[in-house]
Amino acid sequence: MRNRQQSLIVHASVTLASVLQTACSGIQNSINPAGPQAERISHLWWLMFYVCSAVFVIVMAFTFVAIRNRSNSRKQTDLEQPLLNPPKEAEYRRHYVILGATALTCLILFVFLIDSFLVGRSLTAELAHKNGLVIEITGHQWWWEARYLDSNVSNIFTTANEIHIPVGVPVTFTLHANDVIHSFWVPNLTGKKDLIPGKVATIWLQADRAGVYRGQCAEYCGLQHAHMAFWIIAESQTDFNAWRQNQTQSSILAATESQRRGQQVFLSATCVMCHAINGTPAGSNVGPNLTHLASRAMIAAASLTNTKEHLQQWVVNSQAIKPGNKMPQNNLAPDDLQALTDYLQSLK
Ligand code: CUA
Repeated sequence: MRNRQQSLIVHASVTLASVLQTACSGIQNSINPAGPQAERISHLWWLMFYVCSAVFVIVMAFTFVAIRNRSNSRKQTDLEQPLLNPPKEAEYRRHYVILGATALTCLILFVFLIDSFLVGRSLTAELAHKNGLVIEITGHQWWWEARYLDSNVSNIFTTANEIHIPVGVPVTFTLHANDVIHSFWVPNLTGKKDLIPGKVATIWLQADRAGVYRGQCAEYCGLQHAHMAFWIIAESQTDFNAWRQNQTQSSILAATESQRRGQQVFLSATCVMCHAINGTPAGSNVGPNLTHLASRAMIAAASLTNTKEHLQQWVVNSQAIKPGNKMPQNNLAPDDLQALTDYLQSLK
């Protein structure tokens, strides 16, 4: 029994340590704001934190004094009488204290109400950047489709799970859901917004510092909800333009013998039924667009780093990694698997 308790305590400490580590690393942390909206939310949070902490300390202090006074008066011989029948003065004083505390509580709640209303308004007030960057996000079980809109149709492209944005520029996101309700949340940059099937929601955000910010689906959406993460990569306008320029291109041609064979494997196996690689006959949008897969740092909605080993494990049996996802098992011959991942890894 004791061993079990000890192992539970150790397990809880390890979990807490890893949670604190993620929080302190700052990549998914709402009180480490990197943009104007997150800044406002963070101010509201700190206001609530300080006021509620002060209230807690005051309540505890009064509780302590009350317990001490009561135990002191118990020691007196005629203790019950003054408690049951207190003098008028003490009664009045008590009334004033209770009235004062009630008024103060109402005032504090009113301040919170006004401030949260103002923060909520300011988050949506500037949603008028009609000429800025607009990205259409679609939530799927369990990954994120990102379509970069543009007035010039040839500049529109689709990617998945890694969203590049330029620093210091407001970006509008239109949010759609394909199956169930999801929620778009990048704690360092802004608050949550639900993606509801059949409705279009809009949110905007801006990153004031370059960096990689982790986002997470914030609405339970099925078995792999916890593995529905994404990255926002905020970079200089020059880097963003270069990235965008590359994304608008078709996939690069298979250059080596192995890559050519890999492409054939891709086009003849089940891959082609769900994925698109622009510039090839593969054009389905059931799963993530793979045209520039090798330019992404992660796969499987930010669950695995984009290495050859992980790609192979994912292709062969993604169900062992994310049970319940829509990708079937692929029993490819070792040579075919090798060629396929050679090809996928060439798609910069
Ligand atoms: Cu999508 Cu939770």
